[in-house]
Amino acid sequence: LRATAGRRVSELVRDVPDFPKAGVTYKDITPLIAHGDSLRLVVDALAAPYQDRGVDHVIGLEARGFIFGTGVALALGAGFVPIRKKGKLPPRTVSLDYELEYGSATIELREDSLRPGDRVLVIDDILATGGTARAAAELVESQGAQIVGLDVVLELRDLGGRGELPGRSVGALVSV
Ligand code: PRP
Repeated sequence: LRATAGRRVSELVRDVPDFPKAGVTYKDITPLIAHGDSLRLVVDALAAPYQDRGVDHVIGLEARGFIFGTGVALALGAGFVPIRKKGKLPPRTVSLDYELEYGSATIELREDSLRPGDRVLVIDDILATGGTARAAAELVESQGAQIVGLDVVLELRDLGGRGELPGRSVGALVSV
């Protein structure tokens, strides 16, 4: 299932050169999610390894992680919890600052959304430098929750994201 979904991802995720700025190649997932069979396939494949893992909550990372994360939560019978960019969630929140290639960013989680011991699966569309996923994992663990795994639709291997997540279970439908 994961290999079939991975092939579909390779076919339908579109490279957009020089977006949002020169020198950056944007990975456009919208053709993939617009196609009903493919959306279903990708969500089922992301969820498959975690069916019997006692996942309480799926965390989706804003914004594209919300799309896949919600589907995976439904497939697992788990709740969905968003991690958002700064200033989007009402108080009270816990936040974490992290470094980007240029500058920094802040992500937030609602303070009472996870309980100590909760088993959490983190879902996003793309693993690039790994900064976002690493910050999300640290924020989840700051609440005493336990990360069962992090899984993405597409990993950009050259950017070294996996290296930011040592000792963690990291999955990807496709690595390019
Ligand atoms: C993209 C992507 C991941 C993150 C990966 O999000 O959806 O969340 O970057 O990059 P990293 O591994 O280098 O941290 P983006 O900030 O473009 O936001 P969006 O989902 O709101 O479009």
